[in-house]
Amino acid sequence: MSIERTLVLIKPDGVSRSLTGSILGRVEAKGYNLVDVKLMNATRGQLEQHYEEHIGKPFYEPLVEFMLSGPIVAAIFEGERVIEGFRSLAGSTEPTAAAPGTIRGDLGRDWGLKVQQNLVHGSDSTESSEREIGIWFS
Ligand code: RTP
Ligand code: MG
Repeated sequence: MSIERTLVLIKPDGVSRSLTGSILGRVEAKGYNLVDVKLMNATRGQLEQHYEEHIGKPFYEPLVEFMLSGPIVAAIFEGERVIEGFRSLAGSTEPTAAAPGTIRGDLGRDWGLKVQQNLVHGSDSTESSEREIGIWFS
């Protein structure tokens, strides 16, 4: 199995709740290596590229507004099967349903909002990780 890289975003809810260190620490504790990390404000253009598969869906505009609502952290992690491994650490999309022990299951919940504020994003394939790393670390 080859070494992969994945793009992790800590969304504005994670940064504003001061969970950045806890979230990065969970990924490091699993044994993945931090390659690069930065605190930044996303642009609408970056989000249009990042979420292009969701353009036109009912949650797309609220999702972009949420991602623009405060700073985010972008990180690259590296390791064997890190793409699958990070998504397993993150848990399923809805925080209420996400398993305990996962980032979303332990630290997230549903706030009755228009979009899932679920703390993190992780690439879902080698193709998307290459594409997404290019968007956030070009
Ligand atoms: P991500 O891409 O952020 O790692 O999460 P995911 O694969 O679990 O979720 P995805 O289906 O790709 O959706 C991207 C993000 O859009 C928001 N979302 N809200 N109905 C809703 O309110 C809804 N559906 C999706 C979430 O922030 C989700 O992570
Ligand atoms: Mg996704």
